[in-house]
Amino acid sequence: RKFLVINGPNLNRLGVREPAVYGRENLKTLERNLQQLAEQQGVHIECVQSNHEGVIIDWIHGADENFDGIVINPGAFTHYSYAIRDAIASISVPVLEVHISNVHKREAFRHESVTAPVTAGQIVGLDIYGYELAILALLQKKGE
Ligand code: DQA
Repeated sequence: RKFLVINGPNLNRLGVREPAVYGRENLKTLERNLQQLAEQQGVHIECVQSNHEGVIIDWIHGADENFDGIVINPGAFTHYSYAIRDAIASISVPVLEVHISNVHKREAFRHESVTAPVTAGQIVGLDIYGYELAILALLQKKGE
């Protein structure tokens, strides 16, 4: 089984970006943790990051045929990208949305996700561990 982990805009700045909000771990650590999990679980995980909406949309489309599930943190696109929402709605593999910070205790504009309603579920506020939990949840789904 293969899973695609997509990190959106500014997540390449993890570790240096607002550490009080997003923690001190960087994207490399996040991705290394996921590779360790992949080994443990005997699955394949591919990790990608982009600051560009269209690139993220192309990855979502491409994943429909090549992956068994997607874990996505759309960053700020979460709150206003109907294009990413429509891309998620256009595919049939399960998508889980992850947010590192607890968006609900932050600014009001972060409380709404336009993408969450077309995903299978959402994990928020569990730091970078949320990505690992999302992969485990996708594995569980397949086993149902
Ligand atoms: C985020 C939350 C978003 O509101 C923000 O724009 C991000 C990161 C998170 O992981 O907590 O870029 O998606």
